[in-house]
Amino acid sequence: MMLIDGPSRLMGELEVQGAKNSTLPLLAGALLCRGQTVLHNCPELSDVDAAVKILEHLGCRCKREGHDLTIENGVTCHEIPEELMRRMRSSIVFLGAIISRCGEARLCSPGGCELGPRPIDLHISSLKKLGVQVKESGGWLHCSAPGGINGAYVSLSFPSVGATENLILAAVCGSGTTIIANAAREPEISDLCEYLNRCGGRIYGAGESCIIIDGVKELYGAEHRVMPDRIAAVTYMAAAAVTGGNVTLRDVDNTHILPMLTPFEESGCRVRQLGGCLDILAPKRLSAVRHIRTMPYPGFPTDAQPVVMAMAAVGDGTSVFVENIFENRYRHAEGLSRMGARVKVEGKVAVVEGVPELTGATVEAMDLRGGAALIVAGLCAQGSTKVRGMEYVERGYEKIGEHLSELGAKIKSF
Ligand code: EPZ
Repeated sequence: MMLIDGPSRLMGELEVQGAKNSTLPLLAGALLCRGQTVLHNCPELSDVDAAVKILEHLGCRCKREGHDLTIENGVTCHEIPEELMRRMRSSIVFLGAIISRCGEARLCSPGGCELGPRPIDLHISSLKKLGVQVKESGGWLHCSAPGGINGAYVSLSFPSVGATENLILAAVCGSGTTIIANAAREPEISDLCEYLNRCGGRIYGAGESCIIIDGVKELYGAEHRVMPDRIAAVTYMAAAAVTGGNVTLRDVDNTHILPMLTPFEESGCRVRQLGGCLDILAPKRLSAVRHIRTMPYPGFPTDAQPVVMAMAAVGDGTSVFVENIFENRYRHAEGLSRMGARVKVEGKVAVVEGVPELTGATVEAMDLRGGAALIVAGLCAQGSTKVRGMEYVERGYEKIGEHLSELGAKIKSF
C-alpha cells in the first residue's frame, strides 16, 4: 500500500526507467539466440521477474546485476506452466519464439486481465499462416510446426502489438520471407527488431505498417540497451503537471513522447525537449485537456489515458476521452471520483469536469496504469490518500514511491 500526504509540488530531476513493454519481447527474442544476450537498462519490475522465471523454466540461465540482465540460452523445454502464465498476461509473447526454437509450444491460454477480455485470436490466426498447427483444449494451447515455420504474407485486421511481436519472433528464424501488413508501429517493435537484427536477423520496415522478415538459419546473442519507457515518462510528466511542479526527465526518447504532448500543452504546461531530456514546467492551475482519443501508435497511446485523466480531473474545464483500444480501461474513474473528481463514463467515452481540488481518500488500484493515475491524483489532493493494490503498479513502475519522494512528494510505502 502507498500512503501519500498531499498536496506537494514536484521539483528536480529523474532518470526514466527502461521500457517494460520492450523488455518482455526482448526476453522472448533471447530464447532464439545461441549463446549469451546482455540487456542493459533492464528495469527491475515484477513483470520482468515473472518473464525471467519463464525463461529459467524453459532452460535458460539468467543473472541480474543492477540494470544489466544476462541470459545464457539453453532451451530444453517448450511448456509454460499455468502458475507462470497466470502471473503475467503478456506471457503470450513467448509463444512464437518457443515454437520457432522447439518446433512446438504448450501454454495455458492467458486469462483475461483487468482491462477486459484479452483475446489472442490475431496471434493464433497469424501463426497458422506461417504453418503452425494450434489445438486448444481445456484452456491449454498446444502449438506445433511439424513442417517448420514457413514465410507467408500476413495482413493483421488490427495493428496488434503482441501479435506483431509474436509474428516477428516466429518468422525471424523461419524459412522464406514473411510480410506483415498493418503491423503495429509502436517503438517497442522497433526496439525488438533492432536487437534481433544485431543478433543476425534480417527484418526491414520496423516502425512502419509493413514489416518484411527474411528468415535466417541462426541468431547469436548480442548486447542491447532497452529503450526508455515512454509511459513511465508520461506518468512523471502528469505528476509534475498536477502539482504545479518543474521536473526534468533524463534518458527520454523525445520522438516517442510527441504523440502525448498535446494534452500537456493544452493544459498550460511548458514542455522543452532537449536531446535525451525533457523539462516540464506546470502552471498553478491546469486548463482542461479537451479531447483525447486513444489510437495505435503514432496516435495517443491507451497506456497514457489514465494518468492524463488524473490531470483532467483538476483541469479548469471539460475534457472528453474516447478509449478505442481496450474495453474496460476506465476503472480508475471510480477511485478518482472517490477523491472528488467529476467523471462520467458511458461505454468508450468518459467526460471529466475539472474541479479546483481533490480530497485524499482510500482508493484501490485495479490495473497498472489506473493505479498510477490514482497516485498522480493523490499527489495534488488535499490530505492523505491511501492507494491499495500496489502490486499492480509495481508490475510496471520501478521504485515509483522512491522516485516521487526524491522529487518532493510525501510518501510512505507499506
Ligand atoms: C501491448 O499489449 C502492451 N503490453 C499494452 O500495455 C498496451 O496497452 C497495448 O500493447 C497497446 O499499445 C505489452 O506490450 C506487454 P494489442 P497487447 O495486442 O499486445 C485486441 C501496459 O499497461 N486484440 O495491441 O496485448 C486487444 O484485446 C499494457 O503496459 C484482439 O482482439 O495489445 C486490445 O483490445 C496494457 N485480438 C487491442 O487489440 C488479439 O489477438 C490491443 O491489443 C490481440 C489483441
